[in-house]
Amino acid sequence: PDRYAVIGNPISHSKSPQIHAEFALQTCQSLEYSRLLGDLTNFNGDVRQFFANAGRGLNVTVPFKAQAWALADERSPQAELAGAVNTLTQLPNGRLRGDNTDGVGLVRDLSRNHGFELRGAQVLLLGAGGAARGVIQPLLEASVAQLVVANRTAVKAVELAAQFAPIGAVRGCGLEALAGRQFDLIINATSAGLSDAVPAIPAECLTAGGWIYDMLYSDQCTAFQRWGQTHGAARALDGLGMLVEQAAESFWLWRGVRPDTAPIITQLRGTAA
Ligand code: ATR
Repeated sequence: PDRYAVIGNPISHSKSPQIHAEFALQTCQSLEYSRLLGDLTNFNGDVRQFFANAGRGLNVTVPFKAQAWALADERSPQAELAGAVNTLTQLPNGRLRGDNTDGVGLVRDLSRNHGFELRGAQVLLLGAGGAARGVIQPLLEASVAQLVVANRTAVKAVELAAQFAPIGAVRGCGLEALAGRQFDLIINATSAGLSDAVPAIPAECLTAGGWIYDMLYSDQCTAFQRWGQTHGAARALDGLGMLVEQAAESFWLWRGVRPDTAPIITQLRGTAA
């Protein structure tokens, strides 16, 4: 069978093999998908070895997405702007193509799976690292009314927003500048949740009936989901659906078939409970 894998460090927790195995079963594709623990000092070597041994495609996760971007011989427009690559594909001519399916995954999960109307929405994106950068273009292309990127270190958000200003209504600022503003959707793309913290945003910046979305996921509610619940969010979602949707987009790039994501989302929720 064709070989695929996810490379990261750490990697043992990754749900990608389970997700892709389900997709393969569902679409009757013969493929093998495994986990690769990437060497922190030799990512390029690991990737080259994988493709030299008949590998067809790699998903790339923390902390290698920027290195994968640099390694790719060519990149999709999304990946180019995101500055990060989560999907590597070996082309028939041997060149490596880099894609970024994270942003599409987020937008699909929000709009298709959960029915959130992004068009015309006031959206706040928290964070200015790689996770935030990867989702800005797809959010702007979903015709949000305005996207505000806010970060603890204000200058990083201002610089990030400036890079995307040519493609849509996006502004960057510090967290304190959010006082008095209200948003229909707040997306957390910070890593604060890894230490069970939430960014210090004003209590009133979620509109009544607004939603929050944490790009992290965990077996329990994340810290930011709990923030949403105590601040009147109509829905407080985690990033599990985004994880499955970005995987589906990678699968489609590799195999030319679109899997149905609902069964695996249900299955993962079930095993997480
Ligand atoms: P990633 O690639 O996951 O985005 P990163 O590039 O290290 O990781 O970025 C982490 C983001 O989380 C940054 O925006 C960081 O804010 P700073 O730029 O001010 O460091 C944000 N972050 C991490 N911990 C945070 C916390 N406790 N409160 C607010 N923001 C936090």
